[in-house]
Amino acid sequence: MSAAGVMARADVAALFTPFRLGGLTVPNRIVMSPMTRQFSPGRVPGADVAAYYARRAAAGVGLIVTEGVAIDHAAAVDFPEVPQLHGDAAQAGWRKVVDQVHGAGGLIVPQLWHQGPMRDPASSTEPEIVGIRPSGVWGRIGGSVSLDPAYVERMLPDTRPASDGEIADIIESYARAARAAIELGFDGIAIHAAHGYLIDSFLWHETNRRDDIWGGDASRRTAFAVAVVRTIRDAIGPQRPILFRFSQFKMQDYLARLADTPDALAALLCPVAEAGVDLFDASQRYFDQPAFADSSLNLAGWAKRLTGVASMTVGGIGMGTPRDSLGVERPMEADDNLDAVLARLEAAEFDLIAVGRALLNDPGWISRLRDGHPFLPFDRANLKRLT
Ligand SMILES: Cc1cc2nc3c(=O)[nH]c(=O)nc-3n(C[C@H](O)[C@H](O)[C@H](O)COP(=O)(O)O)c2cc1C
Repeated sequence: MSAAGVMARADVAALFTPFRLGGLTVPNRIVMSPMTRQFSPGRVPGADVAAYYARRAAAGVGLIVTEGVAIDHAAAVDFPEVPQLHGDAAQAGWRKVVDQVHGAGGLIVPQLWHQGPMRDPASSTEPEIVGIRPSGVWGRIGGSVSLDPAYVERMLPDTRPASDGEIADIIESYARAARAAIELGFDGIAIHAAHGYLIDSFLWHETNRRDDIWGGDASRRTAFAVAVVRTIRDAIGPQRPILFRFSQFKMQDYLARLADTPDALAALLCPVAEAGVDLFDASQRYFDQPAFADSSLNLAGWAKRLTGVASMTVGGIGMGTPRDSLGVERPMEADDNLDAVLARLEAAEFDLIAVGRALLNDPGWISRLRDGHPFLPFDRANLKRLT
């Protein structure tokens, strides 16, 4: 269907019904996906960042998940202009972001981020700090990546495994970040446990080769994620929702898989669900790819079916936007997934959809979808601007 075809499309009503998420009512089913922006000099989000998020809220985004935000740990994030959640200046900045989003009628949760094995000391302002890896291995298994080859070369050598003390400190940092976020007025917490970063590196058998309480079989590989979810739940109380993003694919290897079968996925997700998750955010590169053979269910569909917890799908949904966010395996061409999204949502395969690049391209994208107006042409340069 063309952009003009969307105008003729009758019923997007299913996307505009409220959804109960923990103690929150999200006004519609469309969530802004977390997207790193690097517009926070000194790790402090400024007035431009607040206005950027508030524009999306004003245009009707149901729930905003912020860009990945560094937790209070020395090896959390290398990029110097990624914001943090600790310290007076950053917290004052976030308070303005939250107030402006609320003022525009939106809801917002921060995505708590620790890069783990992916942190590049060489691109950090503190190159002496080594990245945290469960077993010292980086985890590349030779599949497809779009990373800079020089970065991959720097990351490949083994480092030392994380110590028990470091692991305990990082869990404590998640608790501090979550507590601070709620005090600042955020509506819940999103946990980045996908794409090969720290929490995912404990879940993934390639990067977690430990044989202690933090590694071993699938159940022990969930121990770190479970500890993080529990400590956040303790810190924020029962009402505020916890979103948990996970993925099969890794930045180290798009073809990597966390779980080869539904049973293997259940072994990883069920303990995490029981620890207190309200929503599984199942990150796929293409939302309409089946997660396993013999079923059309996508990863969010399986997460919901296996755990009984609500789920959100993402990946190449944004109508009017190139399908592939990385431009690697598919040609960059505009796509329109409205019919497929609606059919799956109406079948309750998942509960929410997350949209990334379409909302960078056009803050008003959701109102065009709702009102049946043509989408703006996609301009790749908008991925690097605070439009
Ligand atoms: C510029 C950019 C930055 C991103 N940063 C993050 C991030 O910080 N955390 C995260 O979980 N995903 C991140 N992603 C992935 C998006 O959240 C989303 O899953 C992906 O873009 C697919 O959705 P889309 O096809 O609607 O863009 C990023 C994507 C883009 C394009």
